[in-house]
Amino acid sequence: MSELAGFIRSEIAPVGVIPFARFMELALYHPRQGYYESSRERVGFQGDFYTSVSAGELFGQLLAFRFARWLGELPGKSDGWRIVEAGAHDGRLARDLLSWLRLHRPELLGKIQYWIIEPSPQRRQWQQEKLREFSPQVQWSTHLPAAGPFSGIVFSNELLDALPVHRFAWDAPGQAWFEWGVALDGDKFCWAKIPPAAGAPPAVRLPEELLRVLPDGYVIETCPAAEQWWRDAAGLLDWGRLLTLDYGFTAGEMISPARTRGTLRAYHRHHLSDDLLINPGEQDLTAHVNFSALQAAGESAGLTTEAYLTQPQFLTGILAEAVKDAAFREWNTSRTRQFQTLTHPEHLGRAFKVLLQRREG
Ligand SMILES: C[S@@+](CC[C@H](N)C(=O)[O-])C[C@H]1O[C@@H](n2cnc3c(N)ncnc32)[C@H](O)[C@@H]1O
Repeated sequence: MSELAGFIRSEIAPVGVIPFARFMELALYHPRQGYYESSRERVGFQGDFYTSVSAGELFGQLLAFRFARWLGELPGKSDGWRIVEAGAHDGRLARDLLSWLRLHRPELLGKIQYWIIEPSPQRRQWQQEKLREFSPQVQWSTHLPAAGPFSGIVFSNELLDALPVHRFAWDAPGQAWFEWGVALDGDKFCWAKIPPAAGAPPAVRLPEELLRVLPDGYVIETCPAAEQWWRDAAGLLDWGRLLTLDYGFTAGEMISPARTRGTLRAYHRHHLSDDLLINPGEQDLTAHVNFSALQAAGESAGLTTEAYLTQPQFLTGILAEAVKDAAFREWNTSRTRQFQTLTHPEHLGRAFKVLLQRREG
């Protein structure tokens, strides 16, 4: 048994069952053995999954073009802007973005501080190595807030799908939700119902008509950590944009007859793994983002929703403007291939969505 599995066992043993969200938090972020804390490559060909960043530098270049436009709109301010990236993995996206700005908008780059929010010491080290040429323009913080409020942009790519989720199931005969937790079955981890008295967080609210027909055992996840993160990020901005790109749905799309087992998945070496509880720390655990919940969290913090789009719509909109700019006039087959990977439904174009909110000072 791994050190991490032993640690999780020692948390479960005295209480009998822990929420799945706690299991996921430890499996991904345990300080030494969590999936995101250990030093193995996780993203890209050698790892367990691809992201838009692994497709090549075009993704960061298009974001840089859009960010430069947004910052150029800032009324009455000419410097002291921040771009804050959360969950920057190995710093590649930051490097692609900053390199494009240095080449094509050097005057703007001089007015920006780039902040990275990254709790993992291992990843911070990778990021610092990759971004050495941009030091001291880049600053790090382990958690939001990175000091605010400020004017600028807060963004993340595939961060919120990696935050711990609670897993609820519908008890049709009892017409009530219950929470699935993790317990011990000999040497193994197993699913167990959490007694309602144990203080499970409130479950999803669905219309009565829907609850009457929802099949017994229907599973749904909630992610209070993502909603809190979004609210905190919104609180950092006195002017600017909050943006995330990730796979997910609206609340309405989450409830589908085809998705009776929820969206929680485990990945190991680009393959779906059937067992979410096996080998904690060795496989990625991820769930689709509920964009309606984020949208509501941002609006409750005073932001205005500017767009909720698919990734292809968002990137095509940027490209339509970017091709008129000298920086993108030289197009080549590598850029075409990258753009197809980012937008084609068989690659990253189907599941990925973009939520964009803004605050105007
Ligand atoms: C799936 S990876 C992100 C992939 C990366 N953005 C890319 O596009 O390739 C998730 C990252 O989020 C970081 N992370 C986890 N919790 C975080 C939090 N609360 N704030 C910021 N980053 C966090 C992890 O350490 C990891 O670097």
